[in-house]
Amino acid sequence: MRVVVTGRVHEEAITMLQAEHEVLAWRSETLVSREQLLHRVDGADAILSLLTEKVDAELLAAAGPQLQVVSNVAVGFNNIDVTACRARGVIATNTPGVLTDATADIAMALILMSTRRLAEGERVIRSEQSWQWGMFYMLGTSIQGSQLGVVGMGQIGAALARRAKAFGMTIAYSNRSEIAPELASELGCLRLSMEELLQTSDVVSLHCPYSEATHHLIDAKALAMMKSSAYLINTARGPVVDESALADALRSGQIAGAGLDVFEKEPDVNPDLLGLDNAVLIPHLGSATIETRTAMATLAATNALAVLRGEPAPNPIT
Ligand code: DGY
Repeated sequence: MRVVVTGRVHEEAITMLQAEHEVLAWRSETLVSREQLLHRVDGADAILSLLTEKVDAELLAAAGPQLQVVSNVAVGFNNIDVTACRARGVIATNTPGVLTDATADIAMALILMSTRRLAEGERVIRSEQSWQWGMFYMLGTSIQGSQLGVVGMGQIGAALARRAKAFGMTIAYSNRSEIAPELASELGCLRLSMEELLQTSDVVSLHCPYSEATHHLIDAKALAMMKSSAYLINTARGPVVDESALADALRSGQIAGAGLDVFEKEPDVNPDLLGLDNAVLIPHLGSATIETRTAMATLAATNALAVLRGEPAPNPIT
């Protein structure tokens, strides 16, 4: 059978696929154009997709009726039209679990970078500005004893909560459903409404999937509920936050700072954020370790291979 890989992935995954099937792999760092992709997927039985490629009804039709599986090399799957997949009987899969720790590490790093002004400090040194140790020089905020509000207590939210607890933070969360009692007692955490969480947290960290329901979940109204001393962290998906409302809130001091790994119109970053010292901005590095990216690619290959063998996919998107 024929497997089409839409972007550059680790060779380990390609080798796994090649052991059983013909593989059309994309080996350039440059993204495939939409036109090229529509052409390349023709006749595919499986597509291994990256989050940079939109898998919609048009692409599924271009692949043809033999297409069995779209295996996303990411845990987030907002690039895939899951309803269109279902309508064609195509199984969609993702890669949960393997990037939990890497992403939680980045969220924790953004909390520290924001509250301790690390990026700002580094800019001072690199731009060779004069500086001097002083009792009042570049003071940040201590996180010990402060409240982390986790929006979406899934695997990554829980992994961040564990890290934050080790740093002395208390944990609150807002979730569609109650979390398992064992996890709640391990974290000693409190379930709050979204409103309560925004009003009481010192750091709000976003870990919900992106969908129509979470589009601009953090808008001007939500930002206005946050404490003026609070920080917003986003390692989920950019459009969960209304970036221009966030820039206004950061500029006016409505909130103290933000740490962003993801952006509304990635890879473009809202120019209003670029000039703000209280915004820490990093280029979607959540899962960017050699180990994690290799694990994501090989898990995506495992998912595709299972479906092509007629076995249940380990990680179907339900
Ligand atoms: C994911 O898997 O959704 C991550 O955003 C990739 O970095």
